[in-house]
Parts: sequence; structure tokens; C-alpha cells
Amino acid sequence: MSDGSIDLSRDARAQAYAEPLDTLNPAQPELFTEDAMWPYFERLRREDPVHFTADSAYGPFWSVTRYNDIMTVDTNHQVFSSADGITLVSLEAKAQSAGRPARPSFISMDPPKHDEQRKAVSPVVAPHNLQRMGPIIRERAGAILDSLPIGQEFDWVDLVSKELTAMTLATLFDFPFEQRRKLTHWSDVMTNAPGHGPVTSWEQKRDEIGECFDAFTGLWNERINAPAQFDLISMLAHAEATRDMDIHTFHGNVALLIIGGNDTTRNTISGSIYALNKNPAQYDKLRADPSLIPSMVSETIRWQTPLAHMARTATEDFELGGKMIKKGDRVAMWYVSGNRDDEVIANPNDYIIDRERPRQHLSFGFGVHRCVGNRLAELQLTIIWEEILKRFPTVQVVGEPLRTHSVFVKGYETLPVIIPTRN
Ligand code: HEM
Repeated sequence: MSDGSIDLSRDARAQAYAEPLDTLNPAQPELFTEDAMWPYFERLRREDPVHFTADSAYGPFWSVTRYNDIMTVDTNHQVFSSADGITLVSLEAKAQSAGRPARPSFISMDPPKHDEQRKAVSPVVAPHNLQRMGPIIRERAGAILDSLPIGQEFDWVDLVSKELTAMTLATLFDFPFEQRRKLTHWSDVMTNAPGHGPVTSWEQKRDEIGECFDAFTGLWNERINAPAQFDLISMLAHAEATRDMDIHTFHGNVALLIIGGNDTTRNTISGSIYALNKNPAQYDKLRADPSLIPSMVSETIRWQTPLAHMARTATEDFELGGKMIKKGDRVAMWYVSGNRDDEVIANPNDYIIDRERPRQHLSFGFGVHRCVGNRLAELQLTIIWEEILKRFPTVQVVGEPLRTHSVFVKGYETLPVIIPTRN
């Protein structure tokens, strides 16, 4: 096909290899919805690991697909800047936001400004606060699991993954607890395009995001006039590096923390249930030895890769893998592909919960932007699994998940499961 669109009626591998290499375009949300992107990345890693797509719904961009090349880009913020945004943005979305104020956040800043703002919020996920949060997360995880229907089909994403992560995020923000699912909803509104998730039109998306920012502006106004507290909004309102930021930057940071603290962990919780069901011998191994939970968690974060890519803009010409990336070019680091690079990770397509080096993966990124919430994500996943294993011999997937329609958030909208009745 010359226009780069995909025909999902054909076998994905045949299609990925039939396409002329120079028009091959992995940035197609349909491929991710169908879980059909794997052969595209496999071919790119083998035949053209630093690959240029001249024409796509996201404009022209480079794809970096091998583990070590991704590390090269991610750890060089001088050449690969985040200041023009950290995801591939569709030309349609760009047209919709033209003329509106940008909402920068610290993930889309370069040092030194990035470092100062990151420092303002990082205490909330520092070890001593995680220690404080552990028992709270455990109590909530237990209550969620105890409320699940037994012997009856339900959606794991809704009742467990979204619920636990919404609770944690509400605590981080000190957001009204009974309204916590608004956080999940706003996250879905921000990350979806019209026709997907809860988004029906660009106008509705804008209105709902506006409601979100109004709510957070209210919290800022309350907290800036109150003594400093240990929550993200109060921290931003009182820290020297962020207290004078303009409202658009505040909103940008709110969006970053809502999406960062929510989607990724949620999709890994769902991914763990799905992966263990697809690999029953691994599920047996876990049941037999719950001390494998931490390495299962890391393996799931690799296997799932909840954020498929991060993007950068080259600040100067740079040679990578024999290709010349030009100043101003957009570059996508496909973590989803690097995590399946068999030159670095043995049997990368297999889900192996007791791998030798389970934390060797790209899912949290590297360099100055490496995920600030990685330990909190691992903590939530570890606790929910400790509590699952205490209660249920199995959580059985009873149908295929509905996957997100995105080249960025790689996750699940629904995952039907049954917890069998005990005899
Ligand atoms: C499995 C769960 C998670 C995954 C896979 C994940 C992934 C990522 C990735 C790939 C980056 C960018 C790294 C880079 O550009 O090199 C990032 C940054 C970030 N993440 Fe996470 N994340 C997760 C959980 C969380 C949680 C729970 C929080 C909330 C506390 C969070 C907050 C952030 C923030 C604030 C940044 C920006 C850091 C910076 O720019 O310095 N993430 N995350």
C-alpha cells in the first residue's frame, strides 16, 4: 500500500514485510489497537534501525528502534531536546491547538529549568514517602479486591486498575477523594483523540480539559494561601522553582502528573493479568513462589511498555546508526521496540517472570527525564499482587481486551475477567 494506511484483514507480518521500506510507518494507532505493530518494529530493527518516515499523520519523523540507539538518544538531552514536546502529535491535533497557549510542563523542558521543577515535586515519591504510602495502598488494594464479584464476569480495568491508581493519585494531589474517578476520566480525555475513549469531539475534549484545569486552579488558590503541605499542588505552589510559574505551565504540570501517575500504572496492572493468563506456566510459577512478585512486576513493565515512545527534536545534525539526523528533525524513541531487541534482551518476546535482569528495560526511559514515579508504580503493582495472591487462586481472562487507540499510551480500555467460585 503506498499511502501508508493498513489493511487489517491481511496478516500483519506479511503486510509489514510487503510494504516498501522507505514508506514504512509504524506510527499508526490502528496497528497498536490490533496488537499488530510487532512485525513492523521487528523489520525496522533488522533492516533499518534508524528509519525516516517522510509522510505520516504525525508529519515527518525518525524512528529509533534498537535498545542501544534509544539509550544514545535518551541520555543526550543537549542534542535531543524535549522543549518541542515529548510525543508524536498528529497534524490534526496541532491544527486544533493552533493559536492557543502552549502548556509546557517539566517533561517538555530541558535543563536547567527542567531539573529545578522536577526537584519541586520529587519528594512526594522519595523513599520515606513511599514507606508512608505503602500501608495506605495495601489497605485500599485489599478493599478493592474484597469488593469484586465472584463467579461473574467483570471489567478488571474499571474495577481494579483504574480504581487503585485513581486512589493513589488523589492522595498524591490531596484531591477530593470521592471525586477521584474524575482524575481517570480527565487522563482519558487528554490522551484520546475524538472517536476514542470518552472523547467525542475536539470541542468536548477542550471543554473537559478546561474543567480539569479550573478545578486544579481552585486547589492552587486554596493551597498557595495555606501553610505548605506534603501534596503535589501545595509543593508546586510553595517551591521556589515553581511558585511563580504562569498558569499555563501549572496546567501543563498538572496534565503531566495526571497522565504520568495514572495511565501507565493502570495499564501495567491490567497487563499483568493479561500476560499471566497468556502464559499459564508463569502464573503457576508465581503462585508457587510469591517472592517472584517484584521480578514479575518488572517483567510486566518491560513486556507491556505502557508508553510506546517518547519523542525529541534534534538541536544539531547528529549521526546515528549511519544516518544523518538533521537539526530540527523529530525523533521517536520506540521503547516498545527497544524492549524487544534480542541483541540486548534474551528471548525478548517471551514473558519470563524470573528473568536474570528483569529491571533491564527501557519502559521508564533514561537520562534526565527518567520516570520520577517508577518506584511508586512498582510499589502499587507489588502490593496489588501480594493481595491478589492471598485471596484468589486465579483471575481468569475470559475475552480479548479492547486496546487503546494510540501510538503513545499502550494499554487497555477493557479486560473481561472472572474470579471463579471456590469449590
Ligand atoms: C509503570 C508505570 C510507569 C511508566 C512505564 C512510566 C514511564 C515514564 C517514561 C517513559 C517517562 C519519560 C522518560 C524519558 O523521557 O526518558 C516518564 C516520566 C515521568 N513520569 Fe512516569 N511512568 C510510570 C509511572 C509513573 C508514576 C506512578 C508517576 C507519578 C508519580 C509518574 C510520573 C512521571 C513524571 C512526573 C515524569 C517526568 C519526569 C521528567 O521529565 O523529569 N510516572 N515516565
